[in-house]
Amino acid sequence: MRIGVFDSGLGGIATLKDLIKYKPNNEYIYFGDTINLPYGEKTKEELKDYADKIINFLKEKEVDMIIIACGTISSNIYEEIKDSYGIPIYDIINPICNYLENKCHDVLLLATSMTIRSKVFKSKLEEKNIKVYDKECPMFVPIIEGKNKEDINKYIEEYLIDYKNRNIDLIIPGCTHYPLISKELENYLNVKVLDIGYIIASSLDIKDSKKGLEIYFSKIDDSLLENVKRIIGDTEIKLKKL
Ligand code: DGL
Repeated sequence: MRIGVFDSGLGGIATLKDLIKYKPNNEYIYFGDTINLPYGEKTKEELKDYADKIINFLKEKEVDMIIIACGTISSNIYEEIKDSYGIPIYDIINPICNYLENKCHDVLLLATSMTIRSKVFKSKLEEKNIKVYDKECPMFVPIIEGKNKEDINKYIEEYLIDYKNRNIDLIIPGCTHYPLISKELENYLNVKVLDIGYIIASSLDIKDSKKGLEIYFSKIDDSLLENVKRIIGDTEIKLKKL
């Protein structure tokens, strides 16, 4: 199948890597909206406008389905837009919440400001009888996308220090960028980070077809290309600017 995937930037690339790993025989068309990063600080109206442009672009590419590899879009506008484009559109929150039913008790949900403030992710987890601590981590995305990666431990400490002695059995990366700092989060709290890429990939009912990969970004620089190569694990990868 031809599968459109989008996010603001590298977070969706981390999800794409897992889609390719677990569902390899498909054509993936990725769009990363780097010019509008970070989505986590945008208004609902802005998010709707970005999503509309990207979904229409992916439809022009004749995809069979679209995966919103973004917690911020999934929590803030998914329910409103999902039936508006005449094509199946999937979010990341529903598959994660369905997967977690009866698998954990007290979780720490980390996500962007817009995701946490929407309360959508938290209430869908609570519907599954899971106790949820939630925390906005607005500096994680700029650090993951930027050059000062060594700052990450400083912000992990700032955001997570209050959760050190709670009985948390799982960290949920409610932003698709955060699996890129799973090890650092696990080391700090000594709690496992949920593998959301596996869950998203295995929730999809996808028919095998031929393989393919096209990656578009609204803004590209050398460090973005290096990061994409590192995450996907393919040094030959080419990015297209749109
Ligand atoms: N990776 C996205 C998310 O899952 C967007 C993060 C951002 O651009 O702030 O929320």
